[in-house]
Amino acid sequence: MTRFKDDFLWGSAVSAQQMEGAYNVGGKGISTRNLTTAGSRTNPRRTTKTMEEGVYYPASESIDFYHHYLDDIALFKEMGWKSFRTSIDWTRIYPNGDDEVANEEGLAWYRRMFTALKDAGIEPLVTLFHCETPVSLLKKYPTCWLDRRFMDAYVRYCKTVMTEFKGLVKYYLPFNELDCLLMGFPPEVMIPIYEEDSDRKMVEFIDFAHATSSSNRDIDLSVKALHNQLVASAMVVKIAHEIGGIQVGGMAGSIVYPMTARPEDSLLAMQKEQISTQYCLHVTVYGEYAPFAKRYWKEHEVTLEISEEDKKILKEGTCDFIAFAYYSSSCTTTDEEVKKTTKPAMFGAYMNPYIKSSDWGWQIDPIGMRILLNRLYALYHKPLWIVENGLGAVDVLEEDKTVHDTYRIDYLREHIRQIGEAIEDGVDVMGYLSWGGIDIISDTTGEMMKRYGFIYVDLDDEGHGTRERYKKDSFYWYKKVIASHGEDLD
Ligand code: BG6
Repeated sequence: MTRFKDDFLWGSAVSAQQMEGAYNVGGKGISTRNLTTAGSRTNPRRTTKTMEEGVYYPASESIDFYHHYLDDIALFKEMGWKSFRTSIDWTRIYPNGDDEVANEEGLAWYRRMFTALKDAGIEPLVTLFHCETPVSLLKKYPTCWLDRRFMDAYVRYCKTVMTEFKGLVKYYLPFNELDCLLMGFPPEVMIPIYEEDSDRKMVEFIDFAHATSSSNRDIDLSVKALHNQLVASAMVVKIAHEIGGIQVGGMAGSIVYPMTARPEDSLLAMQKEQISTQYCLHVTVYGEYAPFAKRYWKEHEVTLEISEEDKKILKEGTCDFIAFAYYSSSCTTTDEEVKKTTKPAMFGAYMNPYIKSSDWGWQIDPIGMRILLNRLYALYHKPLWIVENGLGAVDVLEEDKTVHDTYRIDYLREHIRQIGEAIEDGVDVMGYLSWGGIDIISDTTGEMMKRYGFIYVDLDDEGHGTRERYKKDSFYWYKKVIASHGEDLD
């Protein structure tokens, strides 16, 4: 008898734009990520309007999963994965986002890939939107998620996909990380507004350590775009339930600690968590906005109008489970002295002095995972699925083609241990997917050197390499963890 359920969904997650490559194959259209340059820890990525001469776009070929999927899935099977999360690239299905008919070649490729997963006994979890915005559709509706016609095209694409893959795909997420729009990014990072006559890049990635955008104009735009996404998400749930045999998850969740025992710090931490976690989940679980949302809108002069029709849609499309990504916790404070003496962290937070950080400054907090699981379960009583977790690190491929990534094993071990504790606390956890089980391009920096995988891919930051796959030490470790149902973590 182990703490993890017999049908616990062990595995790993990726997104199409970070690994498929083949950007001009099979009738695919161009998405914003195909036009996103590489960056680094100090040099933000940018999204250009067309493919510029001499510029490297890492999503063009990436690790070329498109052509390697059969061999890669064989490796996933060898590790014993029960589930694999990936996204569908909207522009493989509708190259312009809203074409009259769906692209048969795109549907056929995903059908082959999902069938290969099924044959390997691996259950897909499919994200329907993971930042792969069709560029043609953006030119047609330049304000993106702020335009209802953009949203309608998205819902139509989702319906096509869910209908086509009935029987092959049981689990969907309408959006990756719904919560990102209110986390302090400038809204343009998540809503790539298109301006034909301007030099402004569609999306300029930001220095994450200083992502603290909070002007009322930014919040107003983000709230309105997010509202359309929440309505679209509810429509997708409703359609999925009508098709039948599908479960849909809402995706959000993070944890914020008060830096000191000052009541003001606890209040601020609570408010930040309300916005980063409960704002979206309350809607996806209960079909209406949480009570605190009204005050938040008022204080930031948000002018969102919610129609009776939207209210009805939100009520009719509530999710079946909650998914979340967890890499790190964060700390906040109102104390000016503490602010002066503490290093800033991502999203306007401060570094927690009690825990270590990765080389990219992401703080490592396995206990936070247990706390978050407990909090989410107490609030929503829905099954929880960890759909991203992992350590981005530089790996060394030795001459004998081994990779000794003990740091990654240590990170994952401690997080899985805390999930086991949360299960003992009574939390219903349905699965655990690490992030990037095969090395892929980093989303925030576009680097290849920031690796999360159990499988090493021979590719560097400029796109050079054989793309050969090699098993890291963590490959054998994760295989043992899954075979022992999470009990043998050594
Ligand atoms: C998640 C995203 O928030 O963070 C992924 O959903 C991303 O797409 C992951 O890859 C890790 O970020 P990065 O920049 O290390 O790839």
